[in-house]
Amino acid sequence: MPMKLFDSHCHFHDKRFNDDRDASFQRAIDSGVTRILTLGDDLEASRKAIEVAEQYEGVVAAAGVHPSNARSWNESSANELEELLAHPKVCVLGEIGLDYYWDKTDEFVEIQHRVFREQLRMAKRLNYPVSIHSRESNADVLTILEEEDGANIGGVLHCFSGSLEEARRGLALGFYLGVGGPVTYKKNDELRELLAEIGTEHLVVETDAPYLSPQPFRGKRNEPAYVATTCQLFAEFLSVAPEQMAEVTYNNALKALRIS
Ligand code: NI
Repeated sequence: MPMKLFDSHCHFHDKRFNDDRDASFQRAIDSGVTRILTLGDDLEASRKAIEVAEQYEGVVAAAGVHPSNARSWNESSANELEELLAHPKVCVLGEIGLDYYWDKTDEFVEIQHRVFREQLRMAKRLNYPVSIHSRESNADVLTILEEEDGANIGGVLHCFSGSLEEARRGLALGFYLGVGGPVTYKKNDELRELLAEIGTEHLVVETDAPYLSPQPFRGKRNEPAYVATTCQLFAEFLSVAPEQMAEVTYNNALKALRIS
């Protein structure tokens, strides 16, 4: 049986695919990637994500405002986002979350929290799972998810990196953990061991393309096809068959993103 993979987090509508999106999609298909979730990071990008999802079978979209773009959220944003979510190709609200890496001034952190909470409440009200971005902010992301009834929202902690305790807080809310390119990097023994401890039944695989290429392609543009490489390398680390890892994570992604 050929391998079947789900790239559960990428930005396939990104302009870095404008010159070869069809070819890149074909390489994904040839690598067994039959489903792709492309996520917007602001409302404009979310519109592009939907346009691209409309063009390719097996590609679905997420709409949302990334924490780095939290300042773009204004009085009309909630209505606009709600309209985007109603599109039949949109199945996830994301990517949303917190990012303290670039700017953690009190003022910006407060804006990020407000925009994150508002989108979580929308996800709960409209029954969409979420794709969560967290950079140097796991403690606050988890606390907010707990306060906002994350167990009744669900979704993925994308490109998870954190402690075992943080991972378990996410799992307790029913979230899945996203495994991407960093799990293939030489120095990331701790991350590999943590994810091994968590077990494949709670994991999904992703590229975050065009970013975070797995080891053999590091420094180059990432693309959905490479989720097969990440899956294979991590399966080797776990001593499980890549096909088994692919199948389990594929089915997990369907559950996490509530795709029937
Ligand atoms: Ni992303």
